[in-house]
Amino acid sequence: MNEVLKVIFERRSVRKYKDKPIDNKMIESLLDAGRMAPSAINRQPWKFYILTKKEDIQLFSKEIVKASAKGIFKSGIKTIVKSATSAFHLSHGIDFLKAKDPIFHEAPVVIFVTAPKDNEWASLDVGMCCQNIMLAAKSMGIDSCPVGLGKFVEQTKLFSRLNANKTEQVKIALLLGYGDENPEVKERIKYNSSFI
Ligand SMILES: Cc1cc2nc3c(=O)[nH]c(=O)nc-3n(C[C@H](O)[C@H](O)[C@H](O)COP(=O)(O)O)c2cc1C
Repeated sequence: MNEVLKVIFERRSVRKYKDKPIDNKMIESLLDAGRMAPSAINRQPWKFYILTKKEDIQLFSKEIVKASAKGIFKSGIKTIVKSATSAFHLSHGIDFLKAKDPIFHEAPVVIFVTAPKDNEWASLDVGMCCQNIMLAAKSMGIDSCPVGLGKFVEQTKLFSRLNANKTEQVKIALLLGYGDENPEVKERIKYNSSFI
């Protein structure tokens, strides 16, 4: 297997990290890899808001736990049932109620990725950008996890600390760090392709 394929097949979402920081220069190199992603009409809609201080990450995580629970309860019983297995990611063995940090898994770096609300392609662009970052990270020995629940930061009192523009929307949070676990590969669905 060539190096790129190896990295693609070896990347995992990691939810346990060593207490070891990542150098800011390294973070910038990873963001540069993200910036090389393709984007619709080359708009490059992504913006990155980076947390590296442990106390901040813990604080944001606590507020997001509260906001995401509120958000899910507000959206009704159907969503609650769905969320129990999907949004809360209990399937990954993380006990949302008992874990110390069920949102950011005590990662040393959290990056909120935003894009303009009025860009219909932004989610796809940000997805590609984040995948570039995660693969580049893996190639440099750094693990990662995309965290959809990170979007609930918008509903916390801490959101203003990002100084994001009102026109922006948080699409996802990305965790980066030196992994302290080796998750098994999650089996992929094979029979979802057809040659026409
Ligand atoms: C858009 C998106 C949102 C996700 N949100 C979360 C999340 O909030 N918390 C979490 O622990 N994992 C989250 N994940 C990680 C997925 O659970 C993970 O990618 C999936 O189980 C496959 O595992 P793998 O990444 O190790 O291959 C998210 C992944 C994506 C692509």
